[in-house]
Amino acid sequence: MKKSLAIIKLGGSAVTDKTKFKTVRRNVIKGIAPILKRYHDKIGKMIIVHGGGSFGHPIAKKYNIDKGLTESNKIGLSETVDAMRELSLEISTIFRNFGLPIFPVQPSSFFITKNGEIINDSNLIVIREALKHNLIPMLWGDAVFDISIGCSILSGDKIILHLAKKLRPNVVVFGSDVEGIFINKNGIRQLVRKITNKNFNEILKSISLSSQIIDVTGGIISKIMIMREIAKLGIKTCLVSLFDPENLYKALVGEDFVGTLFDRLK
Ligand code: IPE
Repeated sequence: MKKSLAIIKLGGSAVTDKTKFKTVRRNVIKGIAPILKRYHDKIGKMIIVHGGGSFGHPIAKKYNIDKGLTESNKIGLSETVDAMRELSLEISTIFRNFGLPIFPVQPSSFFITKNGEIINDSNLIVIREALKHNLIPMLWGDAVFDISIGCSILSGDKIILHLAKKLRPNVVVFGSDVEGIFINKNGIRQLVRKITNKNFNEILKSISLSSQIIDVTGGIISKIMIMREIAKLGIKTCLVSLFDPENLYKALVGEDFVGTLFDRLK
């Protein structure tokens, strides 16, 4: 029987300290490693996609990499790509030490965007091959070439949407530094447990921004829009905190979890 496939986002705000330049949260990564191992050994295949956090975002912002390529930001583009490789190497090294066969795949080496949206009918042959051999492909938000503005920032979330369309995973879990999506109801901050077609617009309006740090890939609203698109493909889509690894496991295997569920929004 074909093993199930999970795609897991390691949000930059969880795996790095966004307030301190290039600071990895090693304890968080070490905390989730055994959970991923348990899932990979017993339940199914997986793809990991991590964010930029305090590695990618500050450099991309400093050089306006999201606004396009100019004569003066080529060094910045190079620095952004390398900062992401640095973070990636930190993450893959920790995971490998826990016995996870990570196979890093650098998104900027094959994704092309137009005005920030992936356009190439990208060949996922390397990712498929890695999965076939039961390796764990790991990608990340990256600075990529863009045919209209020269370069852009491709978020890990957009990569996940693309992979979800092509590979149809059974579950997608977005790991964050918060427990899920929060709204303010009568002055009280509440965790939204489930997002449906019915409450979607109301929730969008009343989002209480849990993180005040604005990043180059758009923050919580664009994340919600992407999660909704994945759910519309008929894929179970969850948002959980990576600070509670057992809870991440529950979301992955379909048990009751604390977080926000986008339940296959058809
Ligand atoms: C951003 O990726 C990548 C760069 C800034 C180069 P994401 O948008 O997926 O990162 P996080 O999860 O928000 O940090």
